[in-house]
Formats: sequence, C-alpha cells, structure tokens
Amino acid sequence: MIQTDQTSHWDLPRIIQGGMGAAVSNWKLAQAVSSGGQLGVISGTALDTIIVRRLQDGDVDGSTRRALEHFPYPDLARYALETYYKPGGRATNEPYKRLALQVGLGSRNAQIMMVVGGFVEVFLAKEGHNAPVGMNLLTKIQTHTLGTLYGAMLAGVDCILMGAGIPKDIPGVLDKFALGESASLKLDVTGATETFSMTLEPAQFGTPMPLKRPKFLPIIASNLLATMLTRKSNGSIEGFIVEGPTAGGHNAPPRGQTTFDERGQPIYGERDVVDLSALKAIGLPFWLAGGTGTPDALRHALEHGAAGIQVGTLFAYSRESGLTPEIKKTALSGVQNGSIGIFTDPLASPTGFPFKVVEIPGTLSEQSVYQARGRVCDLAYLREMYQTDQGKLGFRCASEPFDAFLAKGGKLEDTKGRKCLCNSLMADVGMAQVQRNGVVEQALVTSGDDLLKLGRFIERYSSDYTASQVISYLLAQA
Ligand SMILES: Cc1cc2nc3c(=O)[nH]c(=O)nc-3n(C[C@H](O)[C@H](O)[C@H](O)COP(=O)(O)O)c2cc1C
Repeated sequence: MIQTDQTSHWDLPRIIQGGMGAAVSNWKLAQAVSSGGQLGVISGTALDTIIVRRLQDGDVDGSTRRALEHFPYPDLARYALETYYKPGGRATNEPYKRLALQVGLGSRNAQIMMVVGGFVEVFLAKEGHNAPVGMNLLTKIQTHTLGTLYGAMLAGVDCILMGAGIPKDIPGVLDKFALGESASLKLDVTGATETFSMTLEPAQFGTPMPLKRPKFLPIIASNLLATMLTRKSNGSIEGFIVEGPTAGGHNAPPRGQTTFDERGQPIYGERDVVDLSALKAIGLPFWLAGGTGTPDALRHALEHGAAGIQVGTLFAYSRESGLTPEIKKTALSGVQNGSIGIFTDPLASPTGFPFKVVEIPGTLSEQSVYQARGRVCDLAYLREMYQTDQGKLGFRCASEPFDAFLAKGGKLEDTKGRKCLCNSLMADVGMAQVQRNGVVEQALVTSGDDLLKLGRFIERYSSDYTASQVISYLLAQA
C-alpha cells in the first residue's frame, strides 16, 4: 500500500463543481470549471453507455473520436469505433444499440467500454488547460467501478470523489492501478455466505504503465463515517466532501429510525448535522456541499474551517451542463414563476437512498407518466447483487419487471414507487432510449432544494448563464 501525503502539495480549490450523473457534469462543464481555476468534476456514472450513445448520434463535434485517437491501446479504440460509431447519427426514433447487458461480472468487451468511457470523458475535460480534473463515482455501482477508474487514470484524472456508500477499498485500488498492477474490489452481496469480489487486470488491455495516483475524496454525511474511513481505508484519503440532505441527487438517509413529513419525505434532524470541529480534528481538508452555492455559504464554510464548497445545482443549469436545453428552460421558468417544487422521494431510487426529484410536468415525477411506462430494465447500473440459492452471484433491480424481480427472491414491497433512474437520467441529457414498443423513455430530473432559490441569480445573469459566471458569483466576496 502506498501512503502518500498528497495534501501538502495540493492547491486546494475553493469551489468543487459536484459530480452530477449521468453526464450532467459532462466534460464540457468540468473543462469550463477547471479552466476557471476551480475543480471541475465529470460524472463517471454510466460513461460506457454515454460514450456509445454519443458515437451512435454521429459524434457531431468529433470530440469522442478525437479522444479515442489518444487512447493508449489503439486496438480497443478501434473496437469501440467499429462497434458503435454511426457516421451521420441515428435515424429519428431508431433505438440505440445497447451495450451487452452484463452477465455475471461482465465480459472483456463490456470492460473495454468502461475503460474507454472513463478515458474519453477525462481526456476531453483535461484538454486545453493544465488544471486538475476530478471524477465522481457512486460507490453503489460496483460492477463498473474498476473499469471506469482505470480508464480515467489512463487519461490522468487528478481526483476521485465517491459517495453513496462506504468507499473504503477504493484508495487501495488507486494505488494498485498507479503501479500498473491488477486490483480487486470486494462486492456488497445481499445474503452472502461467502466473499465475492471482482478484479481488473491492466495487462489484459495492453502493456500496463505506471499512472498518476489521483487524490481520493470520499463524500460523507456523518462524522462517524469520516472517522471510520480514515481508520479503515486501505490507502490514503486526501480530504472529504461533507454533503447535507438539501443536496441534489441521492441523499444519505436520516440517521436512526426514519420519520416522514405529511408529503412522505424523510425528515432530517440534529443528528444528521456533521460536527465540523470534530471533522476538522481529523486534519484533512473538507468542502461543504448541499445548499452551499452562494457567496455567503462559501464565507461561512471558510469560517468553519472548510477549504471551500462543493456546488451542484447552480452548475447543473449552466450553459455547459449536459441537461437538455428544454429541461433547463422549463425548470428555470418554473423557478421564476413559482410553479415547480422539489420532492425528496424516499422510494424512487432502486438503491433505497432518498432521491431529490424536480417536479416538472411531463416527466416521471408525475404519477400518470410513471404509471404509463411499462417496467423495462435494460441498462441495469443500479442492480443489487445477491447470492442465489445455488451460491452464485445474482443481479436484481427493484425497478425491473415485477415477475423477474420476484423470481430472483426480491420482495413485492420493495418495488413500490421505484423508478428506472438509468433510463430517465439518460433522457435528461438528450439520450433517451426508444424502447422496442416505440415508447421513448421520459426524463426524471434531480436538483438540490436550492434550485427554488435561483430566481435572483437568474435575474442578475439571465437564464443562459455560464459556469464561469457561477465561479465569479461565488468568489465575489471570498
Ligand atoms: C443533477 C444532479 C446530479 C447529481 N448526481 C450526483 C452523482 O452522480 N454523484 C454524487 O456523488 N453526487 C451527485 N449530485 C450531488 C452533487 O455532486 C453535489 O454534491 C450537490 O449537488 C451539492 O448540493 P447543491 O445541489 O445544493 O449544490 C448531483 C446533483 C445534481 C444537482
């Protein structure tokens, strides 16, 4: 295990642009933020699907093909192009060709596309400047972690940020890949009576090379988790993101027995507030996330010992983000005329974590739109792993068709209100699948509670604002 104290050599950014999956924080947004002197972060979620859909949409700006020309193992880049690139793009209403759905822990071809996906997005985010770029991953999506991390490291990613779980084994993976060695990850398997793990061997893609070891910043919502990670991680950690329950995306559930408000949203209390002085005592830098996208919040964070803030929602609606122009326009005009709300949905995500949903008409946030969608599970990133009766590794998703889920030992009550985040998040960034029955997948948009406070910001900067304007606004008084 390499124990590097990288923090002392690090120019700590005041602002980290939060990773926003899938492809909301795409390379364009991260590149703009990093060029602006702060830390731009790409989302590493589902990059294999994102890249193959960009290729099928004709790679109009040529960026994906440009990145592939720099991929260190040309035969793998050629495989990606020959399999997925469609010059001129798809015909209207033509379904995207899917990646092979992972069987077991996935074929070599599946892993190639994870590695390629991680590489392409980081390569593009780093183009044209020398500033650091980060990548965000959800700890829960274990099957894609090794491939995406390795691809990102091949492109020189500077920082890895991971929440939605306890990423204590990731620092060791980064250390191994940095040495060009194979790395394994222990899998969280429901009902397991034995240990399951997966391994990625760099040598299977070509001659391995030493790589830069990125800094590692876990995203935490409690002091306990921060302390546990510092003690039990299998390698070094370089800081923490402290994320509160008003943040966009998935939220950590409240501590203890969950109670709900009259709309059915989980209630957070005193126990969910992170003790910043205790966190400071750990001695690593930290950034505050969740409703911190204002100059006042940045000042407050600095006064309380933080290195700065991590901001998501404000960047999510900037010109460079991957959300479709229609979604940005509808949501921001809804904010201005007070017609939209945010609902912290305790059920929507198959992960079981609360998920913050923007109530935009015509999206899956509407009960009628949700009910009209038949259950289809064809991307399968959020599947739960479980041990089958035969002692093998099985995969199930509480949003998949009921019969399939129940046949795999899933419980009917766990399917209640579950939504297909995989397909709807692709729709959010303009890559909606056309299903076999011709039905086009609909969006489901997530944002932090502070979306509803963007009115004044928009009045000042217009609703077509840039990431650079967000940075100037946040730093104005710092
Ligand atoms: C559209 C959107 C998607 C997000 N997706 C992720 C994600 O994939 N992984 C993650 O760790 N955090 C995710 N987040 C949380 C952000 O990284 C960030 O921590 C959070 O948005 C900060 O709070 P704020 O929204 O109040 O600024 C997402 C946030 C938004 C708005």
